[in-house]
Amino acid sequence: MTGETFVRAASLGDLEDDTPKRVELDGVPVALVRTEGEVFAVNDICSHANVSLSEGEVEDCQIECWLHGSSFDLRTGKPSGLPATRPIPVYPVKIEGEGPDAAVLVSVTQES
Ligand code: FES
Repeated sequence: MTGETFVRAASLGDLEDDTPKRVELDGVPVALVRTEGEVFAVNDICSHANVSLSEGEVEDCQIECWLHGSSFDLRTGKPSGLPATRPIPVYPVKIEGEGPDAAVLVSVTQES
């Protein structure tokens, strides 16, 4: 089957700017990041080793792995520098509703 299945990952009001939130969706660890007026969803595991990216810092639309310092672009998943060389999966996000109760919907079945 093709197509995207969006599931509710959080309410918009749960997400603070530049403070990643880890959620698990269909068994997939996901880091939700609200930054620069948008919400991004990326796989929470660094592509270099088994480290939770949501424990790292967010800056300039990038999330930094706290262990060895590779940063990943939240739009593309691409690492900006070593030691990570592989991108992390990026998932499509939809916002439904208005205000803090708006639903943040993420599809982990298809990488964007
Ligand atoms: S574990 Fe993330 S850069 Fe090494």
